[in-house]
Amino acid sequence: FDDTFLLSDGNKIPCIGFGTFGLDNNKKGESLIKNAISCGYRHFDTASLYGSEEILGKALKASGVARDEFFLTTKVWKDDMAPGDIRKSFDRSLHALGTDYLDLLLIHWPRANEADEEWEEHLFLAWNTFIFLKQEGKVKSIGVSNFLPQHFDVIHSCSEKPVVNQIEFHPGYMQTGTVDYCQRHNIQVEAWSPLGRGSLLNHPVVVDVAAKHKVSPAKVLLSFCLAHNVLPLVKSSSKERLKENLSLFDFKLTEQDLYVLRGIAEKTGWSGQHPDLSIPKAKVGDF
Ligand code: A2P
Repeated sequence: FDDTFLLSDGNKIPCIGFGTFGLDNNKKGESLIKNAISCGYRHFDTASLYGSEEILGKALKASGVARDEFFLTTKVWKDDMAPGDIRKSFDRSLHALGTDYLDLLLIHWPRANEADEEWEEHLFLAWNTFIFLKQEGKVKSIGVSNFLPQHFDVIHSCSEKPVVNQIEFHPGYMQTGTVDYCQRHNIQVEAWSPLGRGSLLNHPVVVDVAAKHKVSPAKVLLSFCLAHNVLPLVKSSSKERLKENLSLFDFKLTEQDLYVLRGIAEKTGWSGQHPDLSIPKAKVGDF
């Protein structure tokens, strides 16, 4: 499966990824990842926080597929944002994944906690550490996750900009201000929970559009991401559904479908609860 998006640093990224958040850190989790590899997934998203790096590393190794056929992303958790801690976290991730380089490394959250009054300085230092890691050749691309426009302002003057922002994105929470900002600045948006944590699969509008095209609601929601140039990170415990989620190009949503889907305002999960929406600089109207 080799359809890709082109990142602003010239690297390519497979346009669908397998998300490993919530997988059991045991044989069961490992065999789910093995299923995904045998279905054709080559892009895997993990994080030091998820506890899935080790099983991912084992499954990749067991597959016998060459390392350079995979696109691997991991993230540095917000407690590890000091430059020395970033390096330690990165080394732990490489070790757990059993690899000597990463395709993409992300800052998981823009700041450690809401009480951190020096978050801008901390973020600036953290991003410069990411730039060093890239210059050292240990990671091919660097990016961020859960960033709003005001977080990008803090690192605007740095020598490299993030090539990816991974955020919650689905018809119920489109974060239009953030997505527009990223697309204007050539930052690839990746969607976590593209199915609204599964909650949009039974939404009557989604079900209607799916019936019209004779496809599953999941495919409608994943195509919705791609129609907005957003890269979905999918997960499923079933091999059939994993396969189904990869076969996205056998139908196309119409402008009218996109219009009605954008009308869904089902809030789920973190929707509207980004801790940094309370930062005074945030323009609430953007979100
Ligand atoms: P399951 O593991 O039973 O397939 P999100 O990515 O928005 O967080 O949603 C993930 C949920 O969506 C998972 O719980 C997964 O459940 C479900 N899911 C993934 N793909 C499909 C699909 N093709 N059809 C139905 N449910 C799906």
